[in-house]
Amino acid sequence: VPGHAIDTSEEFARHRDSIDPLRGFRERFEFPRLRRTGLETRPAIYLAGNSLGLMPKSVREIVNEELDDWAALAVDAHFDARRPWYSYHEIFRDPGARLVCGESHPDCPEVVMMNSLTLNLHLMLTTFYRPTKDRHRILIESHCFPSDRYAVQSHLGARGIEQSQGIVEIAPRPGDHLIRTDDVEELLAREGESIAVVLLPGVNFFTGQAFDIERITRAAHAQGCIAGWDLAHAAGNLTMRLHDWNADFAVWCSYKYLNAGPGAVAGCFVHEKHGRNLDLPRFAGWWGNDPATRFNMLEERVFRPRAGADGWQISNPPIFAMAPLKASLDIFDEATMPALRAKSLEVTTYLRGLLERDNADNRGFEITTPREPNRHGCQLSILVHDRPRERFQALLDAGVVCDFRAPNVIRAAPAPLYNSFHDCWTFARVFDSLA
Ligand SMILES: Cc1ncc(COP(=O)(O)O)c(C=O)c1O
Repeated sequence: VPGHAIDTSEEFARHRDSIDPLRGFRERFEFPRLRRTGLETRPAIYLAGNSLGLMPKSVREIVNEELDDWAALAVDAHFDARRPWYSYHEIFRDPGARLVCGESHPDCPEVVMMNSLTLNLHLMLTTFYRPTKDRHRILIESHCFPSDRYAVQSHLGARGIEQSQGIVEIAPRPGDHLIRTDDVEELLAREGESIAVVLLPGVNFFTGQAFDIERITRAAHAQGCIAGWDLAHAAGNLTMRLHDWNADFAVWCSYKYLNAGPGAVAGCFVHEKHGRNLDLPRFAGWWGNDPATRFNMLEERVFRPRAGADGWQISNPPIFAMAPLKASLDIFDEATMPALRAKSLEVTTYLRGLLERDNADNRGFEITTPREPNRHGCQLSILVHDRPRERFQALLDAGVVCDFRAPNVIRAAPAPLYNSFHDCWTFARVFDSLA
């Protein structure tokens, strides 16, 4: 609550950390030591998990295990490795589902980890964007992540649809930073009949605004549109129930809050109602084929998809790239998303309170991320009116890692797995030192 008394003492930050039930997870991660600022003697204050999550220490061991299995078993590792490679993708099914949709049915899994986010988006648009003469538009945000826009543009191009005809954008109202759910609903009620796919983020990368997935999906379906979600900034950040919310598809990356490393293998959700429809058109490859006939190499000429999200796989899984994901999702299963979300809300509210403690507007910045708990995740986006680059540089010089989005936004994301209240306290102290 702005203007509300907040204890700004360092002791209070330390006290909050001492009673944090998740505090033990911090030491399971490698913290960088910043060579560029000459601070390599101590670990950085790392608030950039919205960009690239930290490396879990267990990754090294798990990757080495796969290397050892390759060395010792070679081709036999497909079936004899400690985690057999042939079914490797299946070990992510339940942990992946716990992140985004709840338990899924083994005969029709809703989550598969594969490829990269944008590639998965292409696969989903190939299936779910079925333009007709009257319904051929795709709804995106005016400030969507560039990759999503390019993916959409290329699908329009591939189907011979003019960009100007095929894209409809939802934007914040003039002077606002955030998109109102009411405005999305109103746009859908007005123009939904011409919209084939609604493609929105779970959390906007720039503002940190969380979208009401359930409500927007309902509004999209009421107009006969497909509702697809880019969860790059939502996976491992928000608690979600995509199955119950009836979302049609979703894609996400694993290198941000999921801490699975740069370019890590991404996620894809396909709702069971579509997963059971084996007639849906798709780009096919042997790994999406029903395992029962996958190896009938000479007799089989017809692709028979496996039911569920697995039926959108194309190639056999890259084991060394997936091993870090195993280390990472084990940690998520141990910590659990509800507990992480509870801490995330506490720690972000604390950081916000420190920054806003006396009227932020008078101190040359505003936090554009929504204040309401159900409208944000861990990230706070700070629009800095006064000397934005100097403030960012001061943070870097003090060994605080966050990120800068030109022209004047600093994003800081206290990730509940490895960030502390004291990290937030340090951020606020350095941020304020230039006020
Ligand atoms: C919201 C959003 N969508 C898409 C992408 C692109 O992801 P990738 O390069 O893994 O395909 C990103 C990457 O940061 C993102 O933040």
